[in-house]
Amino acid sequence: MIRKPDILSVPKKISASFDIYNYLIPSGHSEFIITGESKLVDIIQLNQRLLLVISRFGISLGFGDKSVAEVCKANGLNTSLVLLVLNVFNSHSYSVPELLPKNYIAELIQYLKNGHKYFLTSKLPYIEELINRFIEKNDNPNSYLLRNFFKEYTNEVVEHMSLEERTVFPYILGLLQQSDVEKADVRQPLTYKIDDFIDNHSNIEEKLDDLKQLLIKHFPPTPDQFFRNLILFELFDLDYDLNDHNGLEERILTPIVRTLEKEIKGNG
Ligand SMILES: [Fe+2]
Ligand SMILES: [Fe+2]
Repeated sequence: MIRKPDILSVPKKISASFDIYNYLIPSGHSEFIITGESKLVDIIQLNQRLLLVISRFGISLGFGDKSVAEVCKANGLNTSLVLLVLNVFNSHSYSVPELLPKNYIAELIQYLKNGHKYFLTSKLPYIEELINRFIEKNDNPNSYLLRNFFKEYTNEVVEHMSLEERTVFPYILGLLQQSDVEKADVRQPLTYKIDDFIDNHSNIEEKLDDLKQLLIKHFPPTPDQFFRNLILFELFDLDYDLNDHNGLEERILTPIVRTLEKEIKGNG
């Protein structure tokens, strides 16, 4: 079993002077706390990665000078959940409260599903396109290795995310329904546990390191540097983003579900 690092409590691969994953932002730049009164435009100017969080909550750009709380209200979102996710993405040293409310669950799952959609239908196809352009520009007989490696990696991500969507998220939403006092008479014995998910939550960032190594160290020198570098920038960015995504699943969603399981067992 491969254990993933606790990225939300212990910063992963962050040096004292520079966060190597956050290639666009020197460290220190993102050390600020976001509150309900913060203007969305200001926090995006300070940390452009927050654009990803905003769009995964279904917030469209064009919100003028509105604050986080105002935009959440206009979009029917739970402001405290949005603030938690924004702060966690903004700073890996942000401490997550131990007890989080179960009314975060449905929105958090929607957020994670939107993340899956982004990885599978935008980010990975975009990187594949860059790899194709790189191969076109560099007539190298080993190019197929790169293409095959990336295809295998994509299949792994698809499998990881579809397992969550087919099994884990429906289980959690079912649990939420069962915890509803009005439906207490339809409670079923728990046949699955969130810890089963955590024990098997595979590390989909690991293979990305091999891909980066392949491009940096092993693939022979190529006349084109532009696409080679662009692919690498995107792989670092994907790695960072996946690490945050999986961190939300393990460090925010899972503890809420554990509490819910205990609650249901105690009442059953
Ligand atoms: Fe996921
Ligand atoms: Fe995951």
